[in-house]
Amino acid sequence: MLRETRVSVDQLIYPLFVCEGEGQRTAISTMPGIDRMSADVAAEECGAIEALGIPGVILFGIPDDKDESGSGADDAHGVIQDAVSAIKARTEGLVVITDVCMCEYTSHGHCGILNGEEVDNDQTLVRLSEIAVSHAAAGADMVAPSDMMDGRVAAIRAALDDGGFSQMPIMSYAAKYASVFYGPFREAAESTPSFGDRRAYQMDPRNVREALREVALDIDEGADIVMVKPALAYLDVIHRVRETTDLPVAAYNVSGEYAMIMAAAEKGLLDLDRAMDEVLTAIARSGADLIITYFAKRFAEAQRS
Ligand code: PBG
Repeated sequence: MLRETRVSVDQLIYPLFVCEGEGQRTAISTMPGIDRMSADVAAEECGAIEALGIPGVILFGIPDDKDESGSGADDAHGVIQDAVSAIKARTEGLVVITDVCMCEYTSHGHCGILNGEEVDNDQTLVRLSEIAVSHAAAGADMVAPSDMMDGRVAAIRAALDDGGFSQMPIMSYAAKYASVFYGPFREAAESTPSFGDRRAYQMDPRNVREALREVALDIDEGADIVMVKPALAYLDVIHRVRETTDLPVAAYNVSGEYAMIMAAAEKGLLDLDRAMDEVLTAIARSGADLIITYFAKRFAEAQRS
């Protein structure tokens, strides 16, 4: 009765990795319990996710073909676009969010268009806008740009409005740090950069004032929800962001944070369900309204039993 913090299933968002083909489901070795699924299997899975009371999913596409400009990312029948329509057809009210980024679609694995060895911010904005509009056209409920280019929320907002999607909300990865904790995800999404790293566009873990500036910029540009990522090593950032805005704040409990708990539990070093509860509680306590987590399904199942 006296608990100050409660984690509820209806604040969780479950990430899904979608691959091409039919009837495909393969385990992701770096993330125990998480699979890559083709659109049809993902749609089935989403039926189960909705039945568990989880309100939303966020989709990441793993295309077979990649090129310099990530041209598959805005294909009307690309891996994500087909997954969105399959999932919408199979579910009632599940909120389908799409990750808008280029790194899963580019042959070099960077989050934008390259000019030499540098990501060209402004050329990338054009591609990101096209990608966001194609997700909206496929029936997505919300787009979540994760690239960290400057000005992308404004560019995407304008493109959505022009494309007839003025109601479409944007959840921006506003304070996304250059983190080692994305490692397992990059294995899963095959998006490890072929050279260099993402430190030119993702944030320095040493900075919190900069995070607040990034958040303020995204809000000015029209973000509807702001996200902090990763979550666990950045609870102070979540807390600070919570105090500076009345917008909903999301936190991404990322792949490495999931994988380290799963690995420790597999070794018998800690109790999995208690670790999951404690971590999700801490993220909620720090001020996150929404938590994107690979634990969403397990947490929801545990609440049922
Ligand atoms: C794409 C993207 C990444 C994640 C979400 N969107 C990887 C990255 O920036 O390298 C990471 C998610 C996770 O680790 O769970 N830009």
